[in-house]
Amino acid sequence: MIGRLNHVAIAVPDLDRAARLYRDTLGARVSAPVPMPAHGVTTVFVELPNTKIELLHPLGAGSPIQGYLDRNPAGGIHHVCYEVPDILVARDRLKEAGMRVLGDGEPRIGAHDKPVLFLHPKDFCGTLVEIEQA
Ligand code: CO
Repeated sequence: MIGRLNHVAIAVPDLDRAARLYRDTLGARVSAPVPMPAHGVTTVFVELPNTKIELLHPLGAGSPIQGYLDRNPAGGIHHVCYEVPDILVARDRLKEAGMRVLGDGEPRIGAHDKPVLFLHPKDFCGTLVEIEQA
């Protein structure tokens, strides 16, 4: 059912430092910071040949990654995102299998203007999983 790894999202306490690390030390292609108020994050996109890394920093009050950074002050892997061909088919199949879909279970438009859903980390080996319709 799942296809390509779309991205790995890493929550970081210092976005400039993280961007420099990926650009200067690791030699990756790195975007300018992109504020995404609707998602409560500022994102730096790191383009790799086979996938992306998204560096996430809280934006505004009530950011969905603030709690994670409070628990992990040095930052850490926040979620992984897998592509699926049809998000509603994927959701229904996962729910039938007893997996928990976060929120109201309806896809919302993610950072790439495509429908996404998040799956409960306790159902997926302790990892927050995002699925995105490719
Ligand atoms: Co994501």
